[in-house]
Amino acid sequence: YANGTAAAAAVELASPPAARQPFVIGVSGGTASGKTTVCDMIIQQLHDHRVVLVNQDSFYRGLTAEESAHAQDYNFDHPDAFDTEQLLECMGQLKRAQPVNVPIYDFKKHRRCSETFRKVNASDVIILEGILVFHDQRVRNLMDMKIFVDTDADIRLARRIRRDTVERGRDISSVLDQYGRFVKPAFDDFVLPSKKYADVIIPRGGDNHVAVDLIVQHICTKLGQHDLCKIYPNVHVVQSTFQI
Ligand code: CTP
Repeated sequence: YANGTAAAAAVELASPPAARQPFVIGVSGGTASGKTTVCDMIIQQLHDHRVVLVNQDSFYRGLTAEESAHAQDYNFDHPDAFDTEQLLECMGQLKRAQPVNVPIYDFKKHRRCSETFRKVNASDVIILEGILVFHDQRVRNLMDMKIFVDTDADIRLARRIRRDTVERGRDISSVLDQYGRFVKPAFDDFVLPSKKYADVIIPRGGDNHVAVDLIVQHICTKLGQHDLCKIYPNVHVVQSTFQI
């Protein structure tokens, strides 16, 4: 450093830091709360970094033909509806900076597209989004930051009716029936109790630009510390200030 000593508090000449790991963000919240919008806003603002989005929906178990015939009686909002072991495997690989093939889920057929996958490459930031990503402790433990998108239930229901009828091939009566039988009870039993694990709770979801700006600032600070380790591999960042 130009002025030698003090300007630079706290970079410590030390053993090399551990290999760089991606920064993992979990984004949870009730159905149609605006999780995807919040993720898109974060991704847009982090344009200088490599960011990938992984959806918990991709890990829905496919229904058998028999279950499919009675899909209206199937609880898609229970934690057992997801193949969490496979989700953990994929996330583990991404954390080790290895590319993975993520399944593609078809909401109309209630099963995975059998031969197509989405290839997800190693990245600086991994965002894992879904209604129950805070439910399993092993999944939570992968996360460096947990965000809960908190949107009023009436707004969520209105959005869900619109989305499921327009994009997921449902009729209004089946959407309302599913909401009352499964979606709302599972929200009360599993999603809402997992809110306590969040580091940040965003009211009003994607409408809350201030919250998203603050979150992005925090992520950039964390990534900046990572980048410093990359540029000076034998320098260990002790605090957010420097020292020779
Ligand atoms: N679901 C369904 N049929 C399936 C599989 C899932 O209706 N075959 C529903 C479940 O009932 C669950 C919802 O899909 O409540 C989960 O998706 P959701 O979180 O609503 O979708 P996102 O687009 O991630 O939500 P957001 O609007 O918050 O981005």
